[in-house]
Amino acid sequence: MNVTRLGFAHFRNLRDGEIRPCDTINVIYGSNAQGKTNLLEAVWLFTGGHSFRGAKDGELPVLENGRNAALASLTMTVFTEGREQELQLLFKNGRRESVINGVEKRTGSALVGKFCAVIFSPEHLLLVKEGPARRRAFIDGALCQMKPAFARVLTNYNKALAQRNALLKDILRHPELRDTLDIWDQRLILFGTEVILERIAFCRALAPKASEIYGGIAKEKERVSFSYAPFGGANTREEIAAKFFSALKSAQSTDIRTGFTSAGPHRDDLSIEINGLSARTYGSQGQQRSIVLALKLAEADILFQKTGERPVILLDDVMSELDMSRRDYLLNHLDGRQVFITCCDPETVRLMERGRGFFVENGHVKNTVLETDSVVQ
Ligand SMILES: Nc1ncnc2c1ncn2[C@@H]1O[C@H](COP(=O)(O)OP(=O)(O)O)[C@@H](O)[C@H]1O
Ligand SMILES: [Mg+2]
Repeated sequence: MNVTRLGFAHFRNLRDGEIRPCDTINVIYGSNAQGKTNLLEAVWLFTGGHSFRGAKDGELPVLENGRNAALASLTMTVFTEGREQELQLLFKNGRRESVINGVEKRTGSALVGKFCAVIFSPEHLLLVKEGPARRRAFIDGALCQMKPAFARVLTNYNKALAQRNALLKDILRHPELRDTLDIWDQRLILFGTEVILERIAFCRALAPKASEIYGGIAKEKERVSFSYAPFGGANTREEIAAKFFSALKSAQSTDIRTGFTSAGPHRDDLSIEINGLSARTYGSQGQQRSIVLALKLAEADILFQKTGERPVILLDDVMSELDMSRRDYLLNHLDGRQVFITCCDPETVRLMERGRGFFVENGHVKNTVLETDSVVQ
């Protein structure tokens, strides 16, 4: 899918206006605090998701005399499902409303599934830098986008886990309750096995794609590998359930003492290595950045396989800490994808062979004609 037009009014610091992106690379450039990320955020919000910067909906309309205005409006023309479609998103008194091809919807969530995007922002670097929770959230988030049924299984698992943990704490005071633990173990295994099976299937598709993309970014100078292997590598439903069962049994006394379930998919990790070394511990900033990029682009490819629509790629401040050849890859080798990329350095625009540049200054967005930019009308 491609965004062919984006309009904005009273949205953050962006002056009322519009852009007409091309279907390849769109570089949004300008100094700090001019509105580049705001523009990317405007595109992202059409996915129906929350702001990737954690902003509340009520904070998005323009500030007037220190207060947020009552209304902000975004409009988008997107080519998807073989035709141009008109989407509108309103932030009204802290709530969202949407209009899809002229039909008013009372919620913003009506947009979910209409528009698909993948976002990289600097805080996504924590995906590599931090503990396993971020990596699980990445896998689960991608699965939830692709399979609503997965979201239900995950919710059921988390509920069963919370109830088992509550029971563990009760058992300390009432040891006779120990017998009821089996019921929760069974539920945990039932839902947990499904969660693990879906994650395995996703990671199997993700790992080779992400490694290949990383190879392109790093010009094959180093090898990255991804592995998700719960319970030391169980694969079938029966094997996972059996290993999960014995892990719960052998940890039971510890679990009762700590009041916490120590085994299960809520503790899993996606291990990432560069040339056999932990990327989290030993990776450089540029390598970690490239890994997150590779994961995000691979996620976009898998979404494309599942839905038949290529998600729009949004890259916020990705260029810093990347050397010239890595920049060249992002600007010139992401064929067939529509990309929006923000950066400070106007020279970046000259590095691209094809695409469109947008200069942002104090909330004004200008489509700039560049020597290298052969497609600007
Ligand atoms: N609701 C709002 N109303 C007006 N200005 C806002 C609002 N939210 C953020 N801003 C302003 O937007 C600017 C930051 O824009 P941003 O897109 O993050 O900059 P950058 O170009 O560095 O990516 C800041 O000047 C900030 O004060
Ligand atoms: Mg920014």
